[in-house]
Amino acid sequence: MRMETGWVPVALSSTLEPGTSTGAIVVGREIVVWRDSSGAAHVWEDRCPHRGMRMSFGFVRGDHIACLYHGWQYDAAGQCRYIPAHPDLEVPKTIKVPTYLSEERHGIVWTTLSSEATCPEIPGVAEVTPVRSIYINASLERVFLVLEHYGAEFSMTGRSTGILFTGGDRLLIAFQVVSAEKTALHIVILGAPSDNAGPKQKQYAQWAQALRLRLESPVPVEAEVA
Ligand code: FES
Repeated sequence: MRMETGWVPVALSSTLEPGTSTGAIVVGREIVVWRDSSGAAHVWEDRCPHRGMRMSFGFVRGDHIACLYHGWQYDAAGQCRYIPAHPDLEVPKTIKVPTYLSEERHGIVWTTLSSEATCPEIPGVAEVTPVRSIYINASLERVFLVLEHYGAEFSMTGRSTGILFTGGDRLLIAFQVVSAEKTALHIVILGAPSDNAGPKQKQYAQWAQALRLRLESPVPVEAEVA
């Protein structure tokens, strides 16, 4: 799934604390995901318009993010508002970081470049319990090859989401294509933390780790599941 055509998962909401930022890659496109102090998440191009420093290295100050290199500050709309070397300058409107649509749903931060696409939704799910994000050195096709081995226990629910039915639980797995050879999985349990936090989170985090090891194993997945 590309950002141009649909909503793409880029982070677990629980890992993005207010006042922090992180970098992510979607099919080679570098983005910054940051949360302002009021709790709103933002997804932008990960490049400062000044000299190209990654915005994900910057510092969040309230509802602004400041570039690490020369301290230019950008508001939540991506507009540069303050240049420390020229504190009295009225900053030109043209100095702006490209911003993308973003939404948080089912404990995951999503983004898109499409104004027409609909953010994935699992009907009837009000609460989720975060498990983890895991980055795997394998193509999305290889990931699907292994998940399809679960048969009826795994089903795709959209172009970038699937559900694994296991141990009486439902795991939502959201797929982020980092590159042709790297895939990120963002995993949550469908259900309230009051029922799922603790041992289940640990159990499914270990399952995700085992999946990663299997996919990165020198044994060809195709031979293993044939
Ligand atoms: S590169 Fe960002 S402020 Fe200079």
